[in-house]
Amino acid sequence: MTKSPVQIKNPKGRLGVLIPGMGAVATTFIGGVEAVKLGIAQPIGSLTQMGTIRLGKRTEKRTPMIKEFVQLASLKDLVFGGWDIFEDDCYKASKKAGVLEQNILEKVKKPLQSLKPWKAVFDQQYVHRLSGPNVKKGKTKWDLAQMLRDDIRAFKKKNGLSRMVMIWCASTEAFMKPDPVHDTIEAFEKGLKENHPAIAPSMIYAYGALCEGVPFANGAPNLTADIPAMNELSKVNNVPIAGKDFKTGQTWMKTVVAPGLKARLLGLAGWYSTNILGNRDGEVLDDPDSFKTKEESKLSVLEYILQPDLYPDLYKNFYHKVRIDYYPPRGDNKEGWDNIDIFGWLGYPMQLKIDFLCRDSILAAPIVLDLVLFLDLAQRSGMHGIQEWLSFYFKSPMAAPELYPEHDLFIQLMKLKNRLRHLRGEQLITHLGLEYYD
Ligand SMILES: NC(=O)c1ccc[n+]([C@@H]2O[C@H](COP(=O)([O-])OP(=O)(O)OC[C@H]3O[C@@H](n4cnc5c(N)ncnc54)[C@H](O)[C@@H]3O)[C@@H](O)[C@H]2O)c1
Repeated sequence: MTKSPVQIKNPKGRLGVLIPGMGAVATTFIGGVEAVKLGIAQPIGSLTQMGTIRLGKRTEKRTPMIKEFVQLASLKDLVFGGWDIFEDDCYKASKKAGVLEQNILEKVKKPLQSLKPWKAVFDQQYVHRLSGPNVKKGKTKWDLAQMLRDDIRAFKKKNGLSRMVMIWCASTEAFMKPDPVHDTIEAFEKGLKENHPAIAPSMIYAYGALCEGVPFANGAPNLTADIPAMNELSKVNNVPIAGKDFKTGQTWMKTVVAPGLKARLLGLAGWYSTNILGNRDGEVLDDPDSFKTKEESKLSVLEYILQPDLYPDLYKNFYHKVRIDYYPPRGDNKEGWDNIDIFGWLGYPMQLKIDFLCRDSILAAPIVLDLVLFLDLAQRSGMHGIQEWLSFYFKSPMAAPELYPEHDLFIQLMKLKNRLRHLRGEQLITHLGLEYYD
């Protein structure tokens, strides 16, 4: 039975993309979009650009492109702006990041060069390994939030934008536990005025975005918008939020392999994951406080997927270790190794090894693009609060407080596509398939 579709506003006009942190991921994303617009490269890895969606019965053979099915903003309508603690324009920053090669970079030089980051809200207390000159000065965190809001409004006005989205692509902040100052909007605003130490710069960006009615996504594992005050604000102001931590390399692979082991009821004795990474992100994560934030995010996925409480004979007490070592010669071309000790029939041990020679920002860029376009779609469709259907893109998906997050990549994809079908009043696909045999 088809339900009546949700009213989705047309993606008319230009969509502003606000990015705190114009480093490797952000510049690879922007440079990539410009290259795709020029027709010199393809948006590989992006569901919104290359993905299709099956509708109705298999016999109907209806599989439109996702971007046509739900009317997403067109790449030509995206306008970029952002903040960084360094003054480099995006061309220089991209060259330094060393991800895009010169043959592409030269062709997109003009638009990248025209993007100069605004002064950032930054405090080294939250990212120990970095310091830079391009930083806002204000007496209180409240003042800094107002300055960010001014930036957002000026960007909108200058570019004649009809809508905006903000996506955090800045460094991973030091590990932080939830604090009572995060509990309500009132407590948070009081904390801003009193310079409360449990309010990190990323939270000030998220607060600024939500106050301006701008959807917010968090690509790093910081707490940021994953606190009750932001959840409340996103509901009050009718704004969608999503996070945390882009699911790109090793963790993506984990959420592919672990559901497979569990599907076949193969046991797990231990999973040892290590990475070498030589970009600035690797340098920041070399600091124990920032690494702790990342570690928590990377460790959580197996417990949730394998459900040791339900399957104690298979998954009780498995050993899980994650390491990231900063190793400059590799730059952005990370290598991740996994050694997986599993056991099968009668308890006989086996091993699985994965050596993933990946490119961190090449995997992250299409995720940034999809999140921007889907968050804009969510807002045009009247959705607000946590967007669980976007869990597909995150290592630590945000979920309602009473729910455990869904980590299995295939469940996440099904959830995402069913959300789109639901939006357009199409039948949800359950894969039951009885109708073909009646
Ligand atoms: N590349 C991936 O596969 C991947 C996956 C998951 C998460 N992430 C996260 O995405 C983020 C970006 O990664 P990257 O490789 O581009 O790192 P990067 O170091 O190249 O870029 C981050 C940029 O953020 C800037 N910055 C730091 N604090 C800031 C602040 N408060 N305001 C504005 N700018 C600030 C830094 O100066 C830097 O230019 C990191 O947090 C990383 O952990 C990346």
